[in-house]
Order: sequence, then C-alpha cells, then structure tokens
Amino acid sequence: MIDFLLNGQPRRCEASPETSVLELLRETLGQTGTKEGCASGDCGACTVAIGEAGPDGSVRYHSANACITPAHQLHGRHLVTVEGLAQGDTLHPAQAAMVECHGSQCGFCTPGIVMSLFTLHEQQHHTPAPLTPAPLTPQRLEAALGGNLCRCTGYRPIRDAALTMGEHPEQRPLWLDAAAPPPAAPETDARFAQPATLAELVELRRRHPDARLVAGATDLWLETTQRLERFERLIDVTRVAELNAIEETTLDDGRPGWWIGAAVTYSRLEPLLEEHFEPFAHLLHRLGSAQIRNRGTLGGNVANASPIGDTPPVLLALGSRLWLTGPEGERELPLDDFFLDYKKTALGEGESIRAIFLPRPEAGRTLKVWKLSKRREDDISAVLGAFSWKLEDGILREVRLAFGGMAATPKRAAAAEAALEGQAPSTAAFQAARLALTRDFQPMSDVRGSAHYRQLSAANLLERLRLVLLRDHQMQPSSHTDREVMLHAYAH
Ligand SMILES: Cc1cc2nc3c(=O)[nH]c(=O)nc-3n(C[C@H](O)[C@H](O)[C@H](O)COP(=O)(O)OP(=O)(O)OC[C@H]3O[C@@H](n4cnc5c(N)ncnc54)[C@H](O)[C@@H]3O)c2cc1C
Ligand code: FES
Ligand code: FES
Repeated sequence: MIDFLLNGQPRRCEASPETSVLELLRETLGQTGTKEGCASGDCGACTVAIGEAGPDGSVRYHSANACITPAHQLHGRHLVTVEGLAQGDTLHPAQAAMVECHGSQCGFCTPGIVMSLFTLHEQQHHTPAPLTPAPLTPQRLEAALGGNLCRCTGYRPIRDAALTMGEHPEQRPLWLDAAAPPPAAPETDARFAQPATLAELVELRRRHPDARLVAGATDLWLETTQRLERFERLIDVTRVAELNAIEETTLDDGRPGWWIGAAVTYSRLEPLLEEHFEPFAHLLHRLGSAQIRNRGTLGGNVANASPIGDTPPVLLALGSRLWLTGPEGERELPLDDFFLDYKKTALGEGESIRAIFLPRPEAGRTLKVWKLSKRREDDISAVLGAFSWKLEDGILREVRLAFGGMAATPKRAAAAEAALEGQAPSTAAFQAARLALTRDFQPMSDVRGSAHYRQLSAANLLERLRLVLLRDHQMQPSSHTDREVMLHAYAH
C-alpha cells in the first residue's frame, strides 16, 4: 500500500512492484496532465516534483522523471503535479511566465518544463532557513532545464520564462508545506520491500535471494519500460539509514576520506564534490539531468557495472574502496578488484554495497576527468578518461589512468600507467603511453563510437593530459603547436 500526498490531498493506492509514478498518475488516478514521451528518463515530459521532509520537518521538492520512478517510492512523500499548481484562475509564476514569454507551441513538453521551473522556483524563493538559495546563474538555469526536451518552441522563450518567473506574483498554496504523514511502519516483507535499517536489508536479502535491489531506479527501471520485464520482488535501499550516511573517516591504512552511503544521490553528493573534488563535480554536471541526479545514486552506478558508467573510472583513478555487506558479514574491497567482466562484479550472493570510499585529496595529487559524448547535456559517455598523479621533482608518481567505454568494464590502463610512472612528462613518455593504450584496450564499435574513434580519442585524452601538465607546471613547450594548443582550450 502506498500512502502519500498528491497536490495536498492524502492518497492510498495499491500497485504492483513495477508500477511507475507515471502509470499510477495516468492509469490509476486519472491525472493525465503529466505526459509520457520516451518512458526512459530522457525527454522530461513526465517531470513531477517530489517533496520530502528534511531533518527540520520542512518539505523540500526535487524534480523527478515519473516514468522511471517507482510508485512505491512515493510512500510517505508529497507528489506535486502540473494539475496542482494553479490556484483557481491564478497561474503559478512558472506557468504565467511560460504564457507571457510564449514558451509553448504544441504543448506536449510544457507540463514537464513547468514542473522543472516549479522546482527551480521553490529552490529560489522558498528555501527553508538556514539554507540560502544559490543565485540563478546561467549554469543553474541550464542544470534545471537540461533534462527537458522541446521539439518545437526553441529554448530561448523557455529560458526567458525561467529568468522572469520570479517577477510574477505568487499565491503559494499552504499545502505545499505539508509533509506526508510518516510511513506507518516500513513495509519490509511486501513485494516492494522498503527496509529502514541495514539489518533489515540483510535479513530480507537472506530470505529472498531472487529479489532485485533498487535505489534511484534510473538504470533498473528501463528494464520494465523498455524491455517490458516484470519484477517479482524488489528491495528498495533508499530508506536504509546506513546507506544514506556520508561519514568522514580514516581507513586502517591511514588514508583519510569519506564513506559515501551507496544510496546517497548525486544531488546530495554535489556539495562535497564541489568542495574537495572539483573535476568530479564538473563531471556530475554532465551526468544525466537534474531529474536523474536527484534520484540516481553512486551505489547504483557502481553496482550496475556498465562499461560506460561515468563515476567508476573516476573512483578507480582516486583509488576508491567499497564497503560490502551481506549474510556472511561485512568486507572491504579495492574498487580495482570489483569489476570482473561485462556487467559482472565481485558482489557475492545476497551482498549489497553499503558505501564507497572517497580518499581525501592528498597534497600534490591532481585529478582530471574528461567525458566525451555526442551531446554536452544529458548524454552517456562514448569515452571517459579519469587521470590522477603526483608530480615530484618533475617526475610522475603514482599515476592512475582509468577509462570508461574502452573495454567490457571500467578499467585502468596498466601499460600506459607503466609507461608514465617514474618519467618526466616528456613528449616521448606520453608517446609511449599512447602507444601502450593499444595493448591495454581493444574497444568495440557501437552507436556511440567506432573502435577506431575510441582508441584515437583515448590517446588524444592522454595528449590533452600532457598539454595540461605543460601548462600547469610551466614547462617548456616542445613545439609551436603545443604553445598554440595551450593558449586555447584547456581550462578544465
Ligand atoms: C536519462 C538517463 C541519463 C543517464 N545519464 C547517465 C550518465 O550521464 N552517466 C552515467 O554514468 N549514468 C547515466 N545514467 C544511468 C543511471 O542514472 C546511473 O547509472 C545511476 O547512478 C544509477 O543509480 P540508481 O540509484 O538509479 O540505480 P538503480 O537503477 O536503482 O540500480 C542499478 C543497479 O544497481 C543495483 N543496486 C543499486 N543499489 C545497490 C546497492 N546498494 N548494492 C548492490 N546493488 C545495488 C540494482 O539492483 C541495479 O542492478 C542515465 C540514466 C538515464 C535514465
Ligand atoms: S517520458 Fe520521457 S522522461 Fe519520462
Ligand atoms: S512545445 Fe512542442 S515539444 Fe515543446
């Protein structure tokens, strides 16, 4: 049973485990304002806002793709849809601005765009104290709308609506501040089980070895919307307290850092990355869309073990570890030992990822991350390179070069690393490393890129790394071309 608020009204619904929020809205509740476009999280037509009570009791809304959000995850939450925004004849500022700026033509994308603008408006104008709203920069605007496609209006009027909606008067319904009543008791043995503690999660996995785990569902749900599979039984990890924690720690080997709970969403992780891992934070801005980052988790990205997942190469370059938990107890594993083969991991039967270790950046260590994809916004990588190294007295040390999109798993380039380790970052050393990449990888061709493109791009990323080293350490360029290139592109 799902107990939640819909636009301020209490609702109680039954649904099968694989029901999405979109199906619940359109097919069970007859609320058809929320549209279905792609059913895979790509177009944003189905965007809704989901409110959760924070530790202080105030409700914070995030945007989500209703087509790939499990209906059961609404339990104890407040769902706001496009039907709820207008108060009588008074439009919400997001709607009024869209009308005034001519932000809609055929209108199919409009409910989704309005809901993305609504969450942006809430974050800008109703941020609960003591938090302060971040200024509306072009980047924030792009981030808020990057997951919404419009095929006919063009984005300028929509952007104008976003920029001017704050000027429209608002009659904010009081119900927006209402938190859904807390879930009576976590449903631990339903077909969509929602354990609240790690002990419950372990016990459920022991009792139901065939059940699938679900976190943000931004990968898993495509199995039902695209491949029409049924889930007999799901165990939701998103309410497990231990999996939601971010803890500062020191490992037994003395390395300080943070254990990031596997169910921590990208949006929650962002402030920590912004503060300590700027290149990783920069990558996050290009991972999916706001809707995806609000739901998707680091644990889901690692467990999914996709060769083109964005965060595993970065975690490999950082020297991350995993904290696994299962019926046999707990264990730690270097991420280097986790990916075994295509979509095959070292997770044992009944084991879950509890947390992912991010080592605190050491003095003298640098990280660079470059993602190559066909679109800048909301696109999966063709090739991703994540590189980390120390430069001591002009010599490269502890070089870690990890790639996505180059093999059946996210993988370090052992031969290329060996070619650079202990060398000055010279043209010759990098030439050897680029050549070594052909021993490290035999990539495949697919819709995102041919094998040749991938091999060449990976080598070019190493060349980019050489030029960045040249620039950052004020070494002498070895050719006119180097100087030209350095003068231009390599800001990140
Ligand atoms: C439109 C769209 C754009 C996307 N863009 C990107 C992108 O740019 N880059 C990118 O890397 N990915 C992208 N993704 C994929 C996806 O968003 C990420 O992989 C995300 O991190 C998955 O996390 P999740 O919490 O949604 O996982 P889920 O979908 O809930 O789960 C994924 C897998 O992990 C397992 N799992 C989840 N949690 C655990 C756990 N704690 N222990 C063990 N197993 C677990 C599940 O059983 C499932 O097999 C995109 C997806 C969509 C739909
Ligand atoms: S229908 Fe396209 S994102 Fe949901
Ligand atoms: S108005 Fe037609 S798709 Fe946006």
